[in-house]
This record gives sequence, C-alpha cells and structure tokens, in this order.
Amino acid sequence: MMLSPASVLTLAVASTTLLPSLTTAFYLPGTAPRDYLAGENIDVFVNTLTPMLNSKLHSLISYDYYDSRFHFCAPEGGAEKQPESLGSILFGDRILSSPYEIKMMENSTCQLLCQSSVPKEDAKFINDRIKEDYGLNFIIDGLPSSEMMRDSKTQEIFLDAQGFNLGDDETTPDQPALNNHYDIFIQYHARDERHFRVVGVLVYPRTVSSMVAGSTEPDCFNGKSLHLSEATNNEFFYTYSVSFLESDIPWGLRWDAYLHVFDPKIHWFSLINSLVIVGFLVFMVAMILYRTISKDISRYNAVDLSDEVQEDYGWKLVHGEVFRLPPRPMLLSVMVGNGTHLVMMCIVTLVFALFGFLSPSNRGSLATVLLICWTFFGCVSGYGSARTYATLGGESWKPNLVLTAILFPLVVFSVIGLLNLFLIAASASGAVPFGTILAILLLWFLISAPLSVAGYFYGMKHGAFTNPVRVSSIPRQIPPKPWYLKTWQAAILGGILPFGAAFVELYFVLSSLFGNRAYYAFGFLFLTFTVVALTTATVTVLFVYFILCAEEYRWHWRAFLIGGGSAFWVFVYGVWYWASRLSLDSFTSVVLYFGYLFLFALLDFLVGGSIGYIATYFAIRRLYASIRVD
Ligand SMILES: *[C@@H]1O[C@H](CO)[C@@H](O)[C@H](O)[C@H]1NC(C)=O
Repeated sequence: MMLSPASVLTLAVASTTLLPSLTTAFYLPGTAPRDYLAGENIDVFVNTLTPMLNSKLHSLISYDYYDSRFHFCAPEGGAEKQPESLGSILFGDRILSSPYEIKMMENSTCQLLCQSSVPKEDAKFINDRIKEDYGLNFIIDGLPSSEMMRDSKTQEIFLDAQGFNLGDDETTPDQPALNNHYDIFIQYHARDERHFRVVGVLVYPRTVSSMVAGSTEPDCFNGKSLHLSEATNNEFFYTYSVSFLESDIPWGLRWDAYLHVFDPKIHWFSLINSLVIVGFLVFMVAMILYRTISKDISRYNAVDLSDEVQEDYGWKLVHGEVFRLPPRPMLLSVMVGNGTHLVMMCIVTLVFALFGFLSPSNRGSLATVLLICWTFFGCVSGYGSARTYATLGGESWKPNLVLTAILFPLVVFSVIGLLNLFLIAASASGAVPFGTILAILLLWFLISAPLSVAGYFYGMKHGAFTNPVRVSSIPRQIPPKPWYLKTWQAAILGGILPFGAAFVELYFVLSSLFGNRAYYAFGFLFLTFTVVALTTATVTVLFVYFILCAEEYRWHWRAFLIGGGSAFWVFVYGVWYWASRLSLDSFTSVVLYFGYLFLFALLDFLVGGSIGYIATYFAIRRLYASIRVD
C-alpha cells in the first residue's frame, strides 16, 4: 500500500511530538482492503446520532450513541472506543463498538439484538429527537451506512451517507414511531470462492411492535408500528436482519457511489458566473493601468518646457504620504501575518483535496490536514508579520512577535471553548473531549508558536521592503471624498464582488458542513478559491487607486478592510441561510450556528484582508516607483 502524503505528515507530527497519545490521535483508519472468509465476523461500529437535512435542519447538536437516554443495546462489558484521527474527533465522530453479529455470507432474519426498556421520561427525549429528524450512523468495514437514492435531476443512483432515521414522524405526526428494526444489506465482491470484500452498506430502518405477549421470540412482520408512550414505561425489542448481495463493484471503486456531486451544472454555472466577474475586473484594471496611469506617468515625467507649472492631481499628489506610518501598525501586521498563514493553509489543503488525498475513507482527513497545515505554517505568520511590520516602519518588534504567535489562535480557541461549554451544558457529544483539546494546545505551543517565532526572526533578517518614495515631513490636508470611498462603505461595496464570485459554492459548503454531508466538489472549490482571491486582489487595488485619486492617502487599513469586506456579506448570507434553510429548535443550536458562522467570517476577513493588503502594497509600490519625484 502506498503511503499518502497525509499519513507521512501524520507520522512526522507523531514522531516530532513523541507523545503516544498523539500517535493514536492521528491514526488514519480504513485505507487497506480487508478480505473476509465466509462466516468471518464483520464488526459493526456505531457513531454519533446526527440531525438529518431533509427539507430543513432542526438541530446542530449530535448525541453519543450510548447516551443513556436512548437505551440502545450495548455490548456486554461496555462499548469500546475505536481509534480516530484528531480531525475526525473535531468533526464530531465518536466511534464505538456494538453488539451486532454479522457473519460474512450468512443471511439472517429477525435476529434479536436485545430487549430494551425506556422509562417514560426518556420516551419524551427520544420522541423529541425523532421529531428533529435525527439519524443513526453505523460504520461497517469503514463504510458508512447509507440509503440508496436516485438523483431527481440526473436519475443517477447514489448512496447517501447521511445516516438512517431514528424514527418516523411523518405518517403519524403527533405520535412518532421508533425504528427498532434494521434491514441491513451488505454488498460484497467475491475475489475468489473463499475471499469476500465489503463494497457497500445499506440500512433500511423500520418500526415494528415485535414483542408478542406470551412469546420470547420477536415477530418482525406483524406490520404494527411501535410508539413510545410518554405515560408509562416501554418494553420492546431491537431486531435486525442481514442480507448479503453480490456486487460487481471492485473494492477500489466502492466509494464512487458515495462521491455524488449534486447537480454539477450548478457548480459550472457558479464557476462561469465567477469567471465573468473576474474577467470584467481584470479588464477594468487593465484599462486603468494601460490608459490612465501610463498617460499620467508620461505627462508627469515630461520635462515641462512651458513656464506654466503643470498642476499635479490625484494619486501623484500624495506621493509624500502613501508610506506614512498608519495608525495601529502592530495590529495590522499581526492580521496580515495571520491572514497569510491562513491563505497558505487553505491553498495547501485544497491542493491535497484536489489530488484526492482527502478521500472520505479516511474519516476526518480534511480536518486533520487543515490542522497539520495550520500547525506547520505557523512560520508563515511570523515571517509575514515581521516583514509587514518592518515595512510599515514599526519599531517594537518584541510585542509584535508575541502577538503574532498568540492573538488570533487565542481568539479562535476562546470562541471554540465557549461553544464547547454550551455543548457540555446541553450534554451533547459534539463537545471536544479533554484529550483532544490538550493535543491541540500542545500542537500550538510546541510546534506552531515556536515556528511562528522562528519565522519572525527569519522575516526580520530579510527586513523591510524598500519604499520607492520618501515620506514628507508635514502631512497633507485630506479633501472631503464621495460617500462610496468612505472606509466602511468602501469595504462593504468592495466585498460584493468576491462574495458574488463565491456564493453558489458557499451554499454547497454550508449545506455539507451543517447537513453532515461530506463535500466532494473540491475541483470546483479550488477554482472558486482562485477566482475569489484574484477578485479580492483586483477589487482592492481598484478601490485604493480611486481613494488615492481622491487624495486620501491613509490606504493601509482601508486596503485590509476592503479586501476583507466579503466577510460582511458572508455573515449576512449566513443569517439568511439560518432564517430560510434552518429551523433550529434549541438555543444551543442557534448559539453553535452563530459561533461557527462568526469563526468562518473571521477566517474570510483575515484571508481576504491580507490578500487585498498585500496586492495593494505591491501595486502601490510599483505605481510610485514609476514616477519621478524631485
Ligand atoms: C441472502 O439474501 C439475498 C437477498 O435476500 C439473496 O439474494 C442471497 O442469495 C442470500 N445469500 C445467502 C448466502 O443465502
């Protein structure tokens, strides 16, 4: 088996930290094929219960399978935790063993799992979860339990790995029925007469009141449904049937049915939409550069033969001001440094995803790779911040170094910690376990922060970029400017185009993030990211050019804010998504949603802001290097 770069990186992390707990935390399961002999045991693992996105999403909280209020059947001697990668834990997986007994090639019908008793208090809890469309998630031979679906547009058959329904509240809305029988279909591929591989797992749940008075055997086919009574205690059976179905899908292609891109046409539409926007912008910038500026420059540099002193106007007037130290250079450089860090993290993760390294068979590999990139690109933030700060002309490098290494991670960790407290209060399992928090803190303090410091020193060695024009001693007066060039107005206006280039793709990303659906359209995402980065850079340069033409020379913060302006629209969009697509019932879910939305918008702000700032700095440097100043 070939080692994927993700696992090589993983090994690197594990060996540098030398912590045995981390090695297991980074274990990436499910990559090697496994042959089963007929009659060999196939393990069934259970994952958390998650809300399903049918028409609307009702909750964002996930519950442990063995949460005592559900009264699911547990193995004798307690369920065992399965090794998981750090990313998988962060994304809410909690994988445990189960008492199901499935043997390769052995069909079974109406097998008793256990007799369960649900007291009336917990019956209400379960009924509420059924009404919120919670789904169960099994993992069999690394494959998630799924339902076979047909895409209503393309008629393709695919597997939807969202889980299967805990119960049914559609046929009898006021009296939800609990699904206590599962028909498990395992698709197998025969390698030869004796060796079989699992290539698909389908689970169809149904409700059946299988406990018959005077019999210890369940009756799975009486057609009566099971309703949990909230007035008395409930006794009932959990049962399952297993059927093995032959399939000609080879093991190597078993994930293809899961990797269904819904309606690729919409992705193409989105991409073309973004390309039109970026094409328009690039055209605008090209126009300005080739016409206005070159004409300006030649006129400006022409030796003035007439006595009449030519009147300077626009951006040239402020050449003595553009490189003046802006207010709060410390914060600006910290933000640019951290933003560059995030840009690098996104690019490398997207490249990994693009080449298919983040296959869903490695659960949580996306989050794991993001985390590893974030840890190791700590040096980028130090380097970026050091050079930005030096170029701005800041002098107190020590606090700058410390803030670069800790400020932004501190904000993110505080928000996540706060959300975690909410989850613990709601006794939901999405709360990140203590060991994982410790592992991440260790990654931060032992690797990321030292790398950031090292990057900072390296950046200081390279020093400041030389500014092409000197700063004059007396600041100029700034004339009033039109409303659309005022800071906040410009930021919000400037954010429209990058947001416009991304919003269709954003819809899919949000749906898969909150709808517990894996996202596979990484090719589209990568192109969209490129287009958005280009749009952000050009829009910012364009706006700053207009601002300089209006003789407003305080461009540094404006460039960052205009570049990050799309964050405002992302947030507005998130609020719209919440209002129209979600109907979150509990306060905790709402807090969680807005917490994640805030983090997402913050990330977008830093990424966009630093792209805008860096692009503008080099554009301005180029612009003022081309004029002659006496
Ligand atoms: C198991 O059941 C399926 C469908 O119900 C059937 O096609 C298959 O032949 C059965 N397999 C065995 C080993 O009995």
